[in-house]
Amino acid sequence: MGPKEKKESCGSEKEGGIWFTISRRNFLTLAGWALFFAAIGAYLGELFGYKGFFYPKVLFEPSPKFAVGEPKDFLPDSVTTLKSRKIFVVRDGDSFKAISVVCQHLGCAVEFSKEKNIFECPCHGSKYYRNGVNFAGPAPRPLDHFQMVLDDNGRLVIDTSVKVPLETELIV
Ligand code: FES
Repeated sequence: MGPKEKKESCGSEKEGGIWFTISRRNFLTLAGWALFFAAIGAYLGELFGYKGFFYPKVLFEPSPKFAVGEPKDFLPDSVTTLKSRKIFVVRDGDSFKAISVVCQHLGCAVEFSKEKNIFECPCHGSKYYRNGVNFAGPAPRPLDHFQMVLDDNGRLVIDTSVKVPLETELIV
């Protein structure tokens, strides 16, 4: 008689239970595969980022081209600050300009002083004339001017992706 073969199994089979039985070797094999797939999943998750696989990788930013209203919405000889757009709308008679609020020194937001009729930077004291030209402080150049046009509906439309020379103005 040969040696008796001994099978490894969980006790539940012997006891006539309904539980699934598995050998230690099979258990370790399954655990190994589970670890392998978990590592692959973690790697792919890192690669595509959470939800990255399902969504395009784009930045959602507001359009650089936007309407700010009709000319009559701006008082004659006024400077209107559009904080959310970081723009000054400067009206002098029938002339309109769109000037950036971003200081040309280190990028602080300049403010318009009604009393002095100039733009002043609160950070390091740069000063700009009403037309955006710098005349004091560390700012190395004038404020940026952006393209402004009148659309078919009679609204002023500014495009901050298009810089224009300082002397450019929209006459309405
Ligand atoms: S950031 Fe405006 S003067 Fe420095």
